[in-house]
Amino acid sequence: MLKAGGVSAASKRILDVGCGINKYPGAIGVDRNPNTRADVLCDLDRFPYPFRDSSFGELRAVHVIEHVSDVIRAMEEFHRVVVPGGRVYLVTPHYTDFSSFCDPTHRWHLNSFSFRYFGENHGGFGYYSSARFREVKVHVRLLALWRWLGFEFLVNHFLRFRKFWEYYLCYVVRGKVMEFEFEAIK
Ligand SMILES: C[S@@+](CC[C@H](N)C(=O)[O-])C[C@H]1O[C@@H](n2cnc3c(N)ncnc32)[C@H](O)[C@@H]1O
Repeated sequence: MLKAGGVSAASKRILDVGCGINKYPGAIGVDRNPNTRADVLCDLDRFPYPFRDSSFGELRAVHVIEHVSDVIRAMEEFHRVVVPGGRVYLVTPHYTDFSSFCDPTHRWHLNSFSFRYFGENHGGFGYYSSARFREVKVHVRLLALWRWLGFEFLVNHFLRFRKFWEYYLCYVVRGKVMEFEFEAIK
C-alpha cells in the first residue's frame, strides 16, 4: 500500500527488467545475472517480483519477454508493479526475424498481436488474465528491403494491413523487431 504522495513519487520511478548491461538511464535495473548492471537480482520466472504494487511509473523490458517462462504471468506482474496509467514498454523480435530463432535462450516467438489478451475485450479470451492494458503504440520494423519498398509504412499505419501482413505475407516480407507501449488500466 502506498502512503500519501506515494503515487506521484512512484510515477517518476522507472524499472528496467532484464536490464543486462544496457540499463536505461535513471532506471532501477533488475536481472538474474550478477554480471549485469542490475540493482536488484531477481528471477523473472519466480512470482511475485520483489516490488510493491503500483511502485513504478514506467517499466521497460527490452529483448526480455521472449526469455521468460510465462509471458502471461510476467505481464501480470508488470501490470501490478506500475501505477494506474503507468507505461509498460516492450521490445521483442518478430518471429519471422533471424534473431528470433538463432538464440536458443528464446522460449517464445511472437507476433504483433501476441499481447491481445490484455487489450480490448481481451482479444475474445477474457479467461486468460484479468490484467488490462491499453495499447498506446505498436511499431513493427521490417527487414531493410521491405522498409525501402514501403511495406513498413503500410504495416504501421493501417491495422487491417498489419493483420493481412501477419496472415499472408510475413513469411516473405519478414519482420525484424517490434516495439510496444502499453498503459496499465487499473
Ligand atoms: C537479450 S538480453 C537484453 C538485455 C538488455 N535489456 C538490452 O536490451 O541490452 C536479456 C536479459 O534478460 C535477462 N533475463 C533473461 N531471463 C531472465 C529471468 N528469468 N530473470 C531475470 N533476468 C532474465 C538476461 O540475464 C539478460 O540480461
